[in-house]
Amino acid sequence: MTILVFDSGIGGLSVLREARMLMHEHTFVYVGDDAGFPYGDWDGEALTRRMEGLFDTLIQTYRPHLAIVACNTASTLIMPALRTRFDLPFVGIVPAIKPAAERTASGLITVLATPGTIQRPYTQELVRQFASHRQVTMVGATRLARLAEEHMQGRSIDTRVLQAEIDPCFVERDGKRTDIITLGCTHYPFLVNEMRKLAPWPVDWLDPAEAVARQARAVLASVSDDSVGPLDTGSPAGDIAIMTSGSPPAPIARLLGGLGLQLTSQHFPSLDAGSRD
Ligand code: DGL
Repeated sequence: MTILVFDSGIGGLSVLREARMLMHEHTFVYVGDDAGFPYGDWDGEALTRRMEGLFDTLIQTYRPHLAIVACNTASTLIMPALRTRFDLPFVGIVPAIKPAAERTASGLITVLATPGTIQRPYTQELVRQFASHRQVTMVGATRLARLAEEHMQGRSIDTRVLQAEIDPCFVERDGKRTDIITLGCTHYPFLVNEMRKLAPWPVDWLDPAEAVARQARAVLASVSDDSVGPLDTGSPAGDIAIMTSGSPPAPIARLLGGLGLQLTSQHFPSLDAGSRD
């Protein structure tokens, strides 16, 4: 079966790697909307329209059996719209607030995510529902996703910027300290080693990628192979990657190739008119 994994850039690769481990017998189509990156500061309505247009093309062309929206910024916004518009199962990723609230020993947890994810009513509701008995610090990082992209391109990252982005995550109150930081953006796991080095004290960095992959496997188990019609075009022979810019930087192209994803070009009619507000 074919599984589509979608993100604004290379962040979703942190989910793809878990999904492939659990579902290696399936074919993956990885899509990075690098032409729209970063998603963190997009207006909600404009982002919804953009993603609907991209998914129109992707679903028509690749006929996936399941789509994983491997982007918190998108998932906290658009899952109901995608489920209404398209007739296939969608799995999203959202910050691991419930597990963080369950596991913390100090009672102080931090959600580190893009400004978009932090502001979403969906995220606020997760905190209210699962962590109202905890002290939750919400940090909307404006530059981290871009730093992760740069890091993955082999460019040296400015540790002062990284330090400034993570500093607000670490809170000391009444002799207690933050002990869990939930990584609410799929780009951040690629920076976690750097962040660990800069952390003022050790914390648990929670990445929900594996849980999402398990959820995707469970959902896929209930999908029948013939639930989707045969493909006329675009049937991938192996795993492929599509970047909406059509021309990702050479190090990203190499990275995708190294992961066994064949870089494939795809025209998106909805992008022709320029849909960004
Ligand atoms: N990787 C995306 C997420 O999980 C967002 C990065 C961005 O485009 O700002 O939220």
